[in-house]
Amino acid sequence: MQHLISELAGVPVTELARRFGTPTFVYDQALIEQRIAELKQFQVVRFAQKACSNIAILALMKRNGVLVDAVSAGEIVRALMVDYTGEDDGIVYTADIFDDDAIELIRKHSIPVNVGSPDMITQLGAFFPGAKVTLRINPGFGHGHSQKTNTGGDLSKHGIWYSQLQECLELGRKAGVNIRGLHMHIGSGTDFEHLATVCDAMVKAAREVGGQLEVISAGGGLPIPYRKDQARIDVGAYHALWAKAQRTIEDIIGHEVALEVEPGRYLVAEAGSLVTQIRSVKRQGEHTFYLADAGFETLVRPSMYGSYHEISIAAADGREITTEQEVIVGGPLCESGDVFTQEEGGVVVTRRLPAAKVGDYLVIHDAGAYGAAMSSNYNSRRLAGEVLVHEGIPEVIRERQSFEQILANERIPGHLR
Ligand code: LLP
Repeated sequence: MQHLISELAGVPVTELARRFGTPTFVYDQALIEQRIAELKQFQVVRFAQKACSNIAILALMKRNGVLVDAVSAGEIVRALMVDYTGEDDGIVYTADIFDDDAIELIRKHSIPVNVGSPDMITQLGAFFPGAKVTLRINPGFGHGHSQKTNTGGDLSKHGIWYSQLQECLELGRKAGVNIRGLHMHIGSGTDFEHLATVCDAMVKAAREVGGQLEVISAGGGLPIPYRKDQARIDVGAYHALWAKAQRTIEDIIGHEVALEVEPGRYLVAEAGSLVTQIRSVKRQGEHTFYLADAGFETLVRPSMYGSYHEISIAAADGREITTEQEVIVGGPLCESGDVFTQEEGGVVVTRRLPAAKVGDYLVIHDAGAYGAAMSSNYNSRRLAGEVLVHEGIPEVIRERQSFEQILANERIPGHLR
């Protein structure tokens, strides 16, 4: 029967659940390494750590020759913790603003910056003259699986508007920073027709920048098949399109430029699963609900974007499950939108899943990207633990949070004591 599962990365789900408790994110190291290897055609693979920023995952990336992107001071701290450095471009800071924390770290560790707003160029010149800079260009159009993940066009806050490129090069000269690259991340969920348009926009922008250009970045956005019946992206074809743009640019400016790619999801999504336990199986009128011990505080994508994640059931007692039923899968939160089986706009739908009992485990697939990284303490629920499986051996890479940690920074003022 479909949607039954017994092992994750070679380890029984029941063992993982009993040893580490639920909910727990489980990552398969071998699968992450396989995805990295698939992108080796690119000169530089830079992991968009916002997708999954656990320092063990970053250490794994580093071990495999992958560089890292940081979008905040906190992400810079994580990268430094596993010995990435700014000097050799190991870390690049990508954002549309600098805050004070980021300014301090960028200056102290000489971190190159991928600037997304013209104001940043002048600001950078003031606190870090000589900084290495790439310009994140918004080419005027975008693409994405949801309005919330579409990062191009004039309704997007991201990037430097394409017609302001000359102005920014001039700002760079005045500020004394070294503009040496162009970057375009248009949105997550690339299709090839659209990609060709992005490559054309990159060539056009490169022509304007001219000889000072050393690197172009294709950004992230490589899709993964969230549904079993979806096709896998042809990485070779994706690379070929960009390599063609790279060659065209090299011909125009007369020297080599490096080609970077900056995936988050592609490297980690499929390697991560969320293991939860069903705590109630109940009937509401016509509908059956499976209620699990993880909700949108742990995996927000379905509630936030209507994202689809495959779900499997693992029998807790090893019994053979032979029947299926239409169910709605929800979590523990005191909020009606806490449902994993929903579509964009919050429309709740049913899913055909094996007949489960209280105590069985529910595995939510493709949760390695934007799962743990986007989780919260809503309803004062603890952040889930994270486990990495390497050659059949699971190891904790983040302990489940404690209640003391949740409360550590809160204070009751004297007059209320
Ligand atoms: N580079 C830049 C500049 C980005 O803004 C992003 C994602 C990436 C790379 C990586 O994109 P990826 O390869 O992972 O698609 N929370 C949403 C995705 C937001 C993506 C934001 N930027 C989700 O759960 O689908």
